[in-house]
Amino acid sequence: MPSRSSRVRVGVLISGSGSNLRALLDQQATQADAVGEVVVVGSDRADAGGLERARAAGIPTIVRPLAPGDDRDAWEARLRADLATHDVEVVVLAGFMRILSEAFLHGWPDAVVNVHPSLLPAFRGAHAVRDALAEGVKLTGATVHLVDEQVDHGPIIAQQAVAVLPEDDEATLHARIRAVEHELLPRCVELLCAGRLRIEGRSVRLLDADAVASPSPDHPRIDRSES
Ligand code: GRF
Repeated sequence: MPSRSSRVRVGVLISGSGSNLRALLDQQATQADAVGEVVVVGSDRADAGGLERARAAGIPTIVRPLAPGDDRDAWEARLRADLATHDVEVVVLAGFMRILSEAFLHGWPDAVVNVHPSLLPAFRGAHAVRDALAEGVKLTGATVHLVDEQVDHGPIIAQQAVAVLPEDDEATLHARIRAVEHELLPRCVELLCAGRLRIEGRSVRLLDADAVASPSPDHPRIDRSES
């Protein structure tokens, strides 16, 4: 197992129950050669259930609420500084219900990941499951993607479909999508941490494990093609 210091430092931002955070923590706890390590969990909500999960796992937590009328730039700068204090190298948005600015993203180029409950580019936004049901689609799913300056838009790392059943409501459908997310997100975070993703325009290609040098300042985690 790699020593603690050699693992890639992951910061997770949440707003809700944190079931995806739990999946990530479980994977990192059980996979002996896991490359990523969650070192801090941040939230805009003091009552986010996932904070308790993090504390129970002995992981430091940060709560930065944002009330209407607050200075958004100052809030975001504090959040960014919080993550930097923990030397975070990869940021995972696991049900974080805030949009982050370009300035924030510049702090972690191509190293901010989001999980979204639809097959993007279908059903962007905060009500993806409800919107899929309203549209009557027969197939929806989960997407893990790199975050860019547009909402639910960056290069897609992985997707998996989930069938919509005639008797589904938002809760039942979202539960099955979450189950898929719990497999997909940890796998994608691990691939990113291991330096196995190569971005070619809008596409993300998976590199063979033996073709990848260990991530270091000279070997960034993301390989970006100029073509
Ligand atoms: C997930 O469905 C994710 O796709 C969306 O928010 C939900 C978070 O769920 N962005 P949880 O807090 O991880 O349970």
